Amino acid sequence: MLNKRSFSGWKRFVLCLPVIFVFAHMLPVLELRQHSSVQYQHKEKPKKFDRLVLGPASGEGLPDRLQCQGTKALNKTSRTFPNDSHSEDLVVFVTFFATYNSTVDRRVNGRPVDLVTVGDTSYNKVERSMAILNVFINFIQVTMPQSDVIILTDPASELPVHRDKVTIHPIQGEYSRDLLMLQRIRSYIAFLEIVLEKQSQRQGKVRHYIFTDSDIAVVNDLGQMFAEYSNFDLALTFRNNKEQPLNSGFIAVRGTAEGILRAKAFFQEVLKVYSSKFMKASRMLGDQLALFWVVKSQPSFDVRRFTRREAFIDEIGGASVLFLPCSIYNWTPPEGAGQFHGMPLDVKVVHFKGSRKRLMLESWNFLHSSSSDISDMLCLILKSGRTKYDF
Ligand SMILES: *[C@@H]1O[C@H](CO)[C@@H](O)[C@H](O)[C@H]1NC(C)=O
Ligand SMILES: *[C@@H]1O[C@H](CO)[C@@H](O)[C@H](O)[C@H]1NC(C)=O
Ligand SMILES: *[C@@H]1O[C@H](CO)[C@@H](O)[C@H](O)[C@H]1NC(C)=O
Repeated sequence: MLNKRSFSGWKRFVLCLPVIFVFAHMLPVLELRQHSSVQYQHKEKPKKFDRLVLGPASGEGLPDRLQCQGTKALNKTSRTFPNDSHSEDLVVFVTFFATYNSTVDRRVNGRPVDLVTVGDTSYNKVERSMAILNVFINFIQVTMPQSDVIILTDPASELPVHRDKVTIHPIQGEYSRDLLMLQRIRSYIAFLEIVLEKQSQRQGKVRHYIFTDSDIAVVNDLGQMFAEYSNFDLALTFRNNKEQPLNSGFIAVRGTAEGILRAKAFFQEVLKVYSSKFMKASRMLGDQLALFWVVKSQPSFDVRRFTRREAFIDEIGGASVLFLPCSIYNWTPPEGAGQFHGMPLDVKVVHFKGSRKRLMLESWNFLHSSSSDISDMLCLILKSGRTKYDF
């Protein structure tokens, strides 16, 4: 036991070496676009950039990782299409979205504050989150054009989203800021109940559901996973992280009556654990801690599998749960240990967590304003993701 522990300590040290190396090489950063009048109004926080900043790409030289020259991809990522799997099934994206309109009119000396500019457009806080939501939809409409998007929201908010194949679905609940993640699980449960009710009347194609954060870009087809792994009820994404190996930003549910019922029961268990154990956790973390709690409470569950990269299936409280690696299904630009291996060529989802939302909008603009394709855009993300941005 002791030996094993000191070995892993040693291993961790070795794993840190490339990190130090990479940071040392971040200093001569390359600015993609020069702004003539860059002024930092907040001198105390100079590290958050208001424009794209490119650093070195991680995973350089690794044979199965994306290789880049500038923002030109040397490998084409293995793009798949919804029609490749010969499956008639549809995938529906469901995202929970609540925004606060109170900041809209915050003005100092008659001028709006908190404005950020991306490309030719300036956004206040609410407009920023609306822009993220719209870009989330844009990516889906490019990579999975058959997919519908459903936005679960507060009946009190009037989301100005009028898009083809997008439905706003209001759900009664408590939308105060510190209860948002709790409300999100409640909304997922309420939504699955409605789907179950309607299902007996529905004929034809199976509709699978993928519940995601709205700060993700779907960069490849996701329909295949339902055929490739044919016997799961719901799917979660994992990474090698001791405290929070599961990320709640991507949860897939098989659209059969059985799958929906079991996923609903699973969410109800997560909700119960969240309400009883993690209400004091910071508002963004409670659901992930509850998710992990439910999974590791299964006596036979072996958490060591989170240290590997392969997908696996396990029974959790009566549901067959597929665990998918974050590196492919929930890839976040490099941060912390374990993320320095670059970008797999078959990456399907990029998650712009934390201070990376600007990069999500910039990536979309890049894809659309140039002759670049998705692989090139992934190079931009790979090189730029280490930077912290202003929103
Ligand atoms: C990706 O491109 C690099 C550079 O051209 C090449 O060495 C590598 O073999 C390619 N990888 C794959 C999987 O094609
Ligand atoms: C699948 O769709 C893509 C893009 O819409 C198209 O280029 C391709 O030819 C289609 N493949 C088949 C087998 O229909
Ligand atoms: C915010 O309020 C304005 C004015 O009432 C309204 O036009 C807009 O649609 C609202 N935005 C959101 C996201 O609710």
